[in-house]
Amino acid sequence: MGRPKQDISVRLKRHYYDVLNPERFFGEKWPEIRKEARGIVEVENHIYPILKYTLIAVYVGTYANAIKSFKKYNKNGKICYLDATAGAGIYIGKDQKGKEWPVFGTGVIGLIMPAYGLKKLGTVKKKAPQHFDAAIFYEIDNKKRLFLQRLHKRIEDNVHIPSERKYYSDINTIDLDELGKFGCAHWLVVIDPFGAEIKWSTMQKILSLNADIIFNYMCAALRRQLPHQCKDGGAFDDFFGNSNWRSLCNYSEGVGEKLFELYKNNIEGRGYTVYHASVFGSSFDWHYHLMLILRKKYRGDHPWTRPFKEYRKYIEELDEEALYNLFTGPGLTKFM
Ligand SMILES: C[S@@+](CC[C@H](N)C(=O)[O-])C[C@H]1O[C@@H](n2cnc3c(N)ncnc32)[C@H](O)[C@@H]1O
Repeated sequence: MGRPKQDISVRLKRHYYDVLNPERFFGEKWPEIRKEARGIVEVENHIYPILKYTLIAVYVGTYANAIKSFKKYNKNGKICYLDATAGAGIYIGKDQKGKEWPVFGTGVIGLIMPAYGLKKLGTVKKKAPQHFDAAIFYEIDNKKRLFLQRLHKRIEDNVHIPSERKYYSDINTIDLDELGKFGCAHWLVVIDPFGAEIKWSTMQKILSLNADIIFNYMCAALRRQLPHQCKDGGAFDDFFGNSNWRSLCNYSEGVGEKLFELYKNNIEGRGYTVYHASVFGSSFDWHYHLMLILRKKYRGDHPWTRPFKEYRKYIEELDEEALYNLFTGPGLTKFM
């Protein structure tokens, strides 16, 4: 018999404290890294993104291990991680008392989660945990990209991570011939933009790879941009790949969700299944749909989506106060 399953709130905390917390990961080196991060790493006055990163981490860890064990999906070839908007690798949220909550972002999750994360969280039992074989990062901001590269070197001092790593700038210059040189049989792509940065022509290239995708669709940000785009429109035309979104220029009720449906339909129309987790900020206008974009060819339910669905259900029902209580409330010392 396996170990009894821990309550999901306990597992959520463990993900943060045991794996995703750079302060804990780097120990005495953290103050120096924090100093270096000043002006480069995003700092915001809420801790909501910890949920997003936990959900991505749960998925990435399960996924890499599952794909590696299904030979029919990876054809014994390399499985690779592509982060389209990698950031600096760390995000810092501040709670209502001003305490900082640093968390590893997508630029680090893909490297540490499949092996280090699963090992730490005790979910890999019989088999050795599996890494991605190569990791490719796009980040348009030079300072963030260089910080991320340095961070990867520091992480490498502590744990084993894929040594084949490559860093590029603008995801919209993605070159499939260049990517082909990595010899990847299978890709996991993460797209986590501020809003409409990724062009549909770029998405089409990504969708043509042998890839599954995690896309964080920033619903509230896109809705806020709509009135401006209705006057100008260039960025939205590029993002949606046509001007059908303009039919929503005179809507107000539920327009954000309608825009999202347009985008989701575009993706589904290309032979993909989309699952999504929807998270709302209750005290401020913050709302996203974290989409899993999966190729339809997998037969039956995709086995690696089970933990994502379980966490999604819990996270979607967690209001802001419950989140703060979860991470800042009593019982916390047990995890530190
Ligand atoms: C919401 S942040 C997410 C960062 C990262 N995924 C994380 O986990 O912290 C979006 C990032 O996309 C980057 N970005 C914006 N446009 C881009 C582009 N065309 N190509 C690559 N990166 C881009 C921004 O500089 C920013 O760091």
